[in-house]
Amino acid sequence: MPVAITLRPATLQDAELLLAWRNDPHTRLSSHDTNEITLAQHLAWLNRVLNDVARRLFIAEEAGTPVGSVRADTEPDGTTVLSWTVAPLARGRGVGKRMLVALLEETSGPVRAEVKIGNTASMRIAESAGLSLIHEEHGVLHYAGGHTDS
Ligand SMILES: CC(C)(COP(=O)(O)OP(=O)(O)OC[C@H]1O[C@@H](n2cnc3c(N)ncnc32)[C@H](O)[C@@H]1OP(=O)(O)O)[C@@H](O)C(=O)NCCC(=O)NCCS
Repeated sequence: MPVAITLRPATLQDAELLLAWRNDPHTRLSSHDTNEITLAQHLAWLNRVLNDVARRLFIAEEAGTPVGSVRADTEPDGTTVLSWTVAPLARGRGVGKRMLVALLEETSGPVRAEVKIGNTASMRIAESAGLSLIHEEHGVLHYAGGHTDS
């Protein structure tokens, strides 16, 4: 029986952890920007995210141990863009699937996500969370789901 996943809002204290996960080679390959991020760039980015009410960044934990992060960025039209990263040591045992489900429980309205072609695990994560593949463009798969309240 897997340990339950809980989400807590990220803080500046998580900067080092998030940077290590972001600069992991596998994470970089799956990101739009595949360059290694410096600490200064990362701190500027994290400060922007934490101070933006339209963006929510969470640390996923299993019994108090950080195992990944999920982000929900709400766009001006009300659609929320979802993204996720699992800690390298926690990969391959369902954390990605479970933390996206946990994020969706905290998110209302339409959602979307972008997954690079070839990122099979993330395709499965998006699909198991109920997102549908809408289209593919320049090597990126666009998923959408959620519901509108209208
Ligand atoms: C991609 C990533 C999120 C997967 O997280 P994870 O916790 O290892 O994934 P899960 O264990 O929940 O597995 C999800 C599914 O993918 C499959 N899977 C896991 N790793 C896989 C791999 N390397 N290759 C193919 N399938 C894989 C699992 O078997 C599972 O399939 P199922 O539907 O049959 O159960 C994680 O590897 C990661 O953070 N990668 C770097 C960042 C990234 O890719 N972020 C997403 C950008 S869209």
